[in-house]
Amino acid sequence: MASLIDTQRPRRPHAVCVPYPAQGHINPMFQLAKLLHHKGFHITFVNTEFNQRRLLKSQGPDSLNAVPTFRFETIPDGLPPSDSDATQDIPSLCDSTRRTCSAPFQELLTRLNNSALSNVNPPVTCIVSDWSMGFTLKASKQLNIPNVLFFTASACGFMGYVHYRHLVEKCIFPLKDLSYLTNGYMDSVIDWIPVMEGIQLKYLPSFIRSTDRDDIMVNFVITEIENTHNASALIFNTFDDLEPEVLKELSSIYPNIFTIGPLNQLVLNNEVSAHDSALSLIGSNLWREQPGCLEWLDSKEQNSVVYVNFGSITALTENQLVEFAWGLANSKRPFLWVIRPDIVNEATAVITQEFVEETKDRGMLASWCPQEQILSHPAVGGFLTHCGWNSTVESLCSGVAMLCWPFFAEQQTNCWFCQTKWGVGIEVNPRGDRVEIEKRVRELMEGESGKLMKEKALEWKLLAEKAAAGPNGSSYVNLDNLINDVLLTYP
Ligand code: UDX
Repeated sequence: MASLIDTQRPRRPHAVCVPYPAQGHINPMFQLAKLLHHKGFHITFVNTEFNQRRLLKSQGPDSLNAVPTFRFETIPDGLPPSDSDATQDIPSLCDSTRRTCSAPFQELLTRLNNSALSNVNPPVTCIVSDWSMGFTLKASKQLNIPNVLFFTASACGFMGYVHYRHLVEKCIFPLKDLSYLTNGYMDSVIDWIPVMEGIQLKYLPSFIRSTDRDDIMVNFVITEIENTHNASALIFNTFDDLEPEVLKELSSIYPNIFTIGPLNQLVLNNEVSAHDSALSLIGSNLWREQPGCLEWLDSKEQNSVVYVNFGSITALTENQLVEFAWGLANSKRPFLWVIRPDIVNEATAVITQEFVEETKDRGMLASWCPQEQILSHPAVGGFLTHCGWNSTVESLCSGVAMLCWPFFAEQQTNCWFCQTKWGVGIEVNPRGDRVEIEKRVRELMEGESGKLMKEKALEWKLLAEKAAAGPNGSSYVNLDNLINDVLLTYP
């Protein structure tokens, strides 16, 4: 991958990358930052103080200073200080970042530009910000530099959010009372969202499951969606072949859309790490990976293992954890199950000695794992997932079919697309018990539908590779266009 930067320019362009402070947003922003660095940008990666502390702990104190042209800076998230390593409460974090981050961010930019005067770094020339960190738009306007907003999840999820405003106008949101969650109302078919005809209310992004007109998340989404119109461009971690109709529809609303995914594939294809070995030492995982998962998989037969992971935010009740445990045990399949320390209170107490005894020859439990490598391991035959967008994309890139148990946000929409459009997923009944889980695991690993989904997933894998391959892959080309047509257009 050639550098796009004009060598006649006196100094490197300088991109300030601002992820939303949660793992599922940090990872794709970090992949994009690596690609931009590889193309010749100086990078400032802005974490919250809370996440920077966690990153230093998981990656090691020296790791973040490995590359002088790829620097980390911090801003406070506005929440009370905490030493916890658990995922922060998302509504509180959204509310707090929106209210408090603008001033410290502008101070950071001033500091970076002042240090440019003494040649410590080049002046800031563009901002790449998570779409939900819309406060960055004010700063880029003041500096008169491009600001690209990055929607790190699916284009179909974005489409769901775009229509939140209409759900309010049509009085579909807020729910009249909580019985509407269980009385069949959520099964209502929504037929007026273009290219998502037939979708049921329960598959639209989950924040509308509220009776509060002033719900923090719904109002946050509506405001941030409005903000996206002020961006220089909007980017998605998806590829054209995967969501063509949704992207076409979105392009009629947003003229400046760039699909640059799957970013993990783009990083791999372009051998960013091989060219930038110091940068490859820096990871973005906020939890330390538990060693031994890959070695354990090495001992298992091809396509035999069910991999279970619900990402970085999902919280389970104790009862759900117990039902998953016995559903997996009763399926008699080997499984690798990642149980994050904060997935449920006192998870260890829920996993009983009886369960450990029953599954000791075929089950491995871990606290956090190298997911991308796990998914591409030949022993993995299926993925029980919460349909977080990174997990979905990583699964497609590895040709692995899914059991979908969406938790929140646009994961419900991703689940619907996995089932109805992409043919790679079966939904697990959200209220299902161990019998349902065992049945679905068997269907995925042994059934005819599992076989067909696997074939389909392998087709998506090839298309994902094609999109990310140079010199003509759609996402490969789009990334270059994004750089030339937007990011390098500073005064
Ligand atoms: C979510 C989702 O991105 C999205 O659906 C929603 O908008 C809010 O954020 P998360 O729930 O963490 O994030 O899921 P996911 O998108 O799958 O991201 C998790 C990331 O952490 C993935 O890149 C995955 O590879 C990585 N991971 C997860 C690990 O490396 N190891 C683990 O054990 C678990």
